[in-house]
Amino acid sequence: MAEGSKKPEEIPETDTAEGSAPSVTMDLLKDLFQKFSVATTNVDDDTEEQPEQLLPEVSFKGVAEYIASDKCKNIIVMSGAGISTAAGIPDFRSPGSGLYDNLQKYDLPNPQAIFEINFFKKNPQPFYTLAKELYPGNFKPTTSHYFIKLLEQKGLLKRAYTQNIDTLERVAGVSGDKLVEAHGTFHTSHCVDCAKEFSQEWVKDKIFKDEIPRCESCENLVKPDIVFFGEALPKRFFELRFDDFESCDLLIIMGTSLKVHPFASLVGGVKDTTPRLLINREKCGEIDPFMVLMGASGGMDFDSAKAYRDVCWLGNCDDGCLALADLLGWKKELETLVSVEHGKIESDTTTPPQAKG
Ligand code: OAD
Ligand code: ZN
Repeated sequence: MAEGSKKPEEIPETDTAEGSAPSVTMDLLKDLFQKFSVATTNVDDDTEEQPEQLLPEVSFKGVAEYIASDKCKNIIVMSGAGISTAAGIPDFRSPGSGLYDNLQKYDLPNPQAIFEINFFKKNPQPFYTLAKELYPGNFKPTTSHYFIKLLEQKGLLKRAYTQNIDTLERVAGVSGDKLVEAHGTFHTSHCVDCAKEFSQEWVKDKIFKDEIPRCESCENLVKPDIVFFGEALPKRFFELRFDDFESCDLLIIMGTSLKVHPFASLVGGVKDTTPRLLINREKCGEIDPFMVLMGASGGMDFDSAKAYRDVCWLGNCDDGCLALADLLGWKKELETLVSVEHGKIESDTTTPPQAKG
């Protein structure tokens, strides 16, 4: 599809932090509304009818009880870079350790430029240098990845929507049909001009030799199929999202700042009764009274007196997954899964290739 013909909602866009044009406009509007003291919320509107509460209690324990009940059959997991930091892969926005705070050596106009398609076409070297550093294959999945796999083994996983491009869900054994890699993958690559496909091995070989991968037909850049800012998300995301979220009994959100749309807006795609559990180091995705006024819905409400379905567990994702597994009586199973699978990966990487069957 030609770049200009993409619908705006298909293209990843940052919510607030990086000051992109749309968010600047929103901030301005927000200020104006506040200045003129417009009533900006209907969150506390007592006349509004409260949707049915499905959780036995609005707490982490309540979520575990709900999972164990026969009401919860289809769980969707939404994840981000925070589920992979324990594997040694930096996230994007954590102050200090996040990727966007550590790109000074690339001399970029702004940190996000490294993943912007127009910048890449003019100056691809920073991306390829970073890709070499973060190339998938050198990392082990975390307990959080295996928790997703365990949900699949229990027959409870409707789908795992991930923003990550490290492929660790696949390495952890989550089936391809249960996965939506919303920001693409390193698995395949294409020429940015003639769209000729190139294999992962071919591109990896070039990247590791510090060569810029160029199309054998037209000499243009060959880019891994990860979604850059300015590019559309994969078709699979749009094909599955509506049915999946409509039939979702529980949404688990882990390790993401929920700053990038359209991924972040999935949170609002479930029914208004569907419980949502955030496992993260910080709260995010909370309801924004201004956005409510603008007609948007879907933000989470963990703390108000009316909170009836959103639960937040603050801390490391792996600890949160273990704590949830513990409440469900699955802790030993999860720990065994992690140690057995890590053992397999370690023996695979320590065995010389000629000794492998
Ligand atoms: P961010 O870096 O924006 O957010 C990661 C979140 O995980 C933050 O809220 C952290 O506090 C939290 N976190 C980090 N480590 C954690 C841990 N071990 N346990 C619990 N929480 C932890 O990453 P994403 O939300 O994934 O897109 O970023 C979304 C998108 O922005 C990426 O897919 C990428 C990026 O620009 C594109 O490049 C298109
Ligand atoms: Zn080409």
